[in-house]
Amino acid sequence: MKKIIFVCLGNICRSPMAEIFFRDMLKKSGYKAVIESKATSSWEVGSPVHAGTKKILDKYGLEYSSFRARQLTREDCDGADYLIGMDEQNVVDVKRIAGKENERKISRLLDYTPFPRDVADPWYTGDFDSTERDVKAGLDGLLKLLIESGDV
Ligand code: 4NP
Repeated sequence: MKKIIFVCLGNICRSPMAEIFFRDMLKKSGYKAVIESKATSSWEVGSPVHAGTKKILDKYGLEYSSFRARQLTREDCDGADYLIGMDEQNVVDVKRIAGKENERKISRLLDYTPFPRDVADPWYTGDFDSTERDVKAGLDGLLKLLIESGDV
């Protein structure tokens, strides 16, 4: 089974949203992969999901109570098949953590859509609806690619 790690700066807003939505999408569509999310920074390690992301997940009845933020390690990268950043800076940081050998695994979530861009960062804006819209668009494109490539 393939392993996918979604990555953002704090692992409390964007990447946990991607992790929890994508696990639900796979479950509902009958596909299988190991899904995690991690932070490029150590800032929020041990923290639960941000209240704004909780509110989005609550709309769908999705569970997040056992989630705690964790930082991405080189070992994570070695064991993953896909390392997917939420924005360009995440991609830069993941490249540094992952090393040359893992570079081919790294991508940005909205590069799986017809309009490649960064996922809207809700940290300063408080706008988690735009983040939800972007994350879902990216995950739809990602799932399509994984199905086509036989990776789920
Ligand atoms: P995330 O959001 O990377 O989507 O989890 C942030 C979380 C924490 C900080 C910034 C963004 N921070 O500056 O602590």
